[in-house]
Amino acid sequence: MPSLSMDKANGTNLYLQLYQNIEREIINGQLRPGDRLPSYRWTAKKYGINMSTVIRAYNLLAADGIIEIIHGSGCYVKTVNCCHFFADKVVLENFSQGQVMERPAINFSSGTPFRSTYPIKEFSELLTQLIQEGLGDRLAYRDVQGSSHLRAVLAQYLAQQRITADPACIQILAGSQQGINILSQEIVHRNCTLMVSNPSYTVAINSLSRIGCQILSVPILEDGPDLSAMEEILKRKKVDFLYTMPAFQSPTNISISEEKKRQMVDLANRYGFFIIEDDCLSELSFDGVPLIPLKAFDTQNRVIYLKSFSKILMPGLRLACMVVPPQLVSQITSAKFYSDISSPDLFQECLARFIEEGKMSPHLDRMRAYYQEKHQCMAQEILSSGLMTIPYPSHGGLAFWVKLLNRVEDSHQLYERLRQEGVLFLPGNVFSQDGSHGQYIRLSYAAPTNDEIQKGIRIIAKALKEQR
Ligand SMILES: Cc1ncc(COP(=O)(O)O)c(C=O)c1O
Repeated sequence: MPSLSMDKANGTNLYLQLYQNIEREIINGQLRPGDRLPSYRWTAKKYGINMSTVIRAYNLLAADGIIEIIHGSGCYVKTVNCCHFFADKVVLENFSQGQVMERPAINFSSGTPFRSTYPIKEFSELLTQLIQEGLGDRLAYRDVQGSSHLRAVLAQYLAQQRITADPACIQILAGSQQGINILSQEIVHRNCTLMVSNPSYTVAINSLSRIGCQILSVPILEDGPDLSAMEEILKRKKVDFLYTMPAFQSPTNISISEEKKRQMVDLANRYGFFIIEDDCLSELSFDGVPLIPLKAFDTQNRVIYLKSFSKILMPGLRLACMVVPPQLVSQITSAKFYSDISSPDLFQECLARFIEEGKMSPHLDRMRAYYQEKHQCMAQEILSSGLMTIPYPSHGGLAFWVKLLNRVEDSHQLYERLRQEGVLFLPGNVFSQDGSHGQYIRLSYAAPTNDEIQKGIRIIAKALKEQR
């Protein structure tokens, strides 16, 4: 056991001191993955503290995913991040079987918009226009930050969602995944702490934490992350980043209330962390009014805002933007340069003209009408099965977070079985940092037709009945 110092005169609670000491030993490499921590009794005796203090510290370390308590054996420094484990297995599998389908299936796992919603005619016309104007310069290397025309148009587009963005602080990206990756390369370091809600969009969390930073999760409530749990963590730990998806969160489809968005920004200001806001669906509110992003409430440049055009337009555009706090602009620009030098100009100009010529708004109206119908069709099938519920009903987005009612503990088995039968969905625990949420599945209605929705849900219900 490494030498730990405990200062009993210090105001910080003794269990927190013990927690912080052990955590420091792990970060410094004195305690390594798989190492067994000394027993409660031994530690209490050595430092002259109560055993209950040691238990409290160890429980907290376990809750934060730093150690693992194996009853009857002892406490061990965690070896694998559960989240990475699941992601490597299922997320890539999902991408090959869900987003890019290799064989026919009823696909409830893909979040890719249905092909018929793509504004192909408008984009073809814009491309023809650009070709007629002459491609020349457009095929050269371009501005690393992105086309100044597109950045100016996006600043206006975002203003409609109450975001004030200086075009000089907008970074054009090849999809928001590139933005997440750039943050993980340039901004999030190994010694950082990243707070997320559980469950969350695993791909972002895995990308952000690949470098090895610590992940702390807080439960999610029906109006967003549990802020009391968040503040509990903030009081005892330096948190550097919070990753969040305020509009139609993946996988729960929960949207954060306006009040909570304000409170989250306030926490970021008070405790000095950055919020990474991932927005790909705020326009897909069936009420027709886009949800206001958290960035709109940012008062001290604490929100790094990512806006993807993959879900509301077409993922093959590979276009997104980041509204970067001014203090991070040069770091982000150079990270983009090292990543791919610049994004292709052709689609940037198409997107700029598409928005400028007023084509976005009717397109979004069509998308909303199209998905609202599917949303209703799927909700009806899920609820009438009597075997599944929708714990967080919402009025937008592309997917349902569904609770299985027949005591299923691990939807992974159901996933494996139905995959063979040609029905794809995502098991709940791929979205968890600790492998929990096994009684849930995520069903997306982005790809299937109404007939497929009815047929697929009935196949799932039949399998659930057979498992009873
Ligand atoms: C929540 C979320 N964030 C980010 C992304 C990545 O989007 P993009 O295509 O813009 O890279 C996805 C893609 O599915 C997503 O679901």
